[in-house]
Formats: sequence, structure tokens, C-alpha cells
Amino acid sequence: MKANANDVIIACDFPTAEETLRFLDKFTDRKPFVKIGMELYYGAGNEIVKEIKRRGHKIFLDLKLHDIPNTVKKSMRVLSNLEVDMTNVHASGTIEMMKAAIEGLTREDGTRPLLIAVTQLTSTSEEAMQKQLLINADINTTIRKYAANAKEAGLDGVVCSPLEAGFVKEECGTDFMTVTPGIRFADSGKDDQVRITTPEKARQIGSDYIVVGRPITAAEDPVAAYNECCRQFLGE
Ligand code: C5P
Repeated sequence: MKANANDVIIACDFPTAEETLRFLDKFTDRKPFVKIGMELYYGAGNEIVKEIKRRGHKIFLDLKLHDIPNTVKKSMRVLSNLEVDMTNVHASGTIEMMKAAIEGLTREDGTRPLLIAVTQLTSTSEEAMQKQLLINADINTTIRKYAANAKEAGLDGVVCSPLEAGFVKEECGTDFMTVTPGIRFADSGKDDQVRITTPEKARQIGSDYIVVGRPITAAEDPVAAYNECCRQFLGE
């Protein structure tokens, strides 16, 4: 899979397999790229991953691994058998851990899912980072450095806020992929997201993939909302 393709990824933040499949049943034409996060994975396990894959969707398995390199390597080996298209780790696990993740993820034939890193969670404020984690740099410097570390380890890109995608590209080059949640339509509410932007603006700033949850999953007509995202982000 080409790292810097553009697509809209739907965050399937549902608690059960039934709800997820009922939601995906609505998409009869085009099969969207979907993100499976911890809630659904811990609740429904490998079976839901396999079923969504069987239905023809691409999958971003968002489990954000962060452990000692050996454990991450072995866990990634297990995940690579699931045939997902993209997965991730925390960049704060160090370059060594990220290298181990790639090693574990790479199959015998040399193929592997895309691997991206979380820099700083968008829920972490600069104040919490400095006072609780004792990281004295400002948050954007940290994000730049973590992105550079991910690139050095050989990862394909990072998850970041769309508002950070520009400087990540500046730091790591345009081929380094940015996957950005925090997307809202111009006329909709923010929910609990803080640093948000529209699909159109995200594309202009440099997002390769946008991750969209509630603006699609909670819409009256999710297929129409998805198509509108594609229209704005992909210019379709
Ligand atoms: O519903 P909403 O569009 O806010 O969903 C965004 C998705 O992206 C959720 O699954 C959320 O956990 C995820 N995410 C995020 N911010 C990050 C990393 C992941 O919103 N920094």
C-alpha cells in the first residue's frame, strides 16, 4: 500500500461487533477505510477485524503500542498476521522500540502494514506535558522531534492534529505521512475535540489521511456525511 495516498478513514468507535457491522451495512457502494480502536478491539477481538477485512474494507488498527522493544516486536508479529493495512505505536517508546515494531510487523515475504506513531496525544496539554511529564520543551518542538524520531526508525508517518501536519511535513518531508483526527464540518459542533479543522482545510495543510468519527457515525445519514467528507477532502 502506498504510504502517501489520500483517504478518509471512519473511526468506528462502537462498543460491539453488531453495532459496527450494522453501521457498515449502510455502505453498499464504496467500502470505506475504517479505524478500529481499543474499545472495539478489546470488546470484539480478532473476529471483528477479520470480518471487516472480509467485507472488503481497509483497516487502521489503532492500538497505540508502547512497551519494551521485545514485547512490542512480538506483539506486532501477531498483529501482522491479521492483514490490517495500518497500525501504530507511541513515539515516546523510543527509536529502538519503533525499530523493533517494524521488525515484528514485517512478514517473511518483506511486506508489512503501514506503521505510524502517535507523537503527543492531542489530549495532552503543554502544561501537563511540562508539569507532570517534566518535558521542558514546548509541545510543538516535542511533536517535531518525535516525528523525526519516527522517521529515523523507518516508520511511514505520524498521527497528529491537522494543524500540526504542515510542520511535520516541513520537518520530515512530504512523503512522510500524516494521519489526522480532529475533523469537523464547518457547520457542526466540536464535541470534546479542541484543535479541529474541516476536511478541505486539512487537505490544504498537508493531511494524507483524515480520521473522522462522530461527524459520520452520529450523522442522520452517515453515507451522505462520508461522501461529503470525500468530496471536500479528495475533491470528488
Ligand atoms: O468522533 P471523532 O471524529 O472526534 O473521532 C476521532 C477519532 O480519532 C477517535 O477514535 C479518537 O480516539 C481518535 N484520536 C483523536 N485524537 C488523537 C488520536 C486519536 O481524536 N490524537
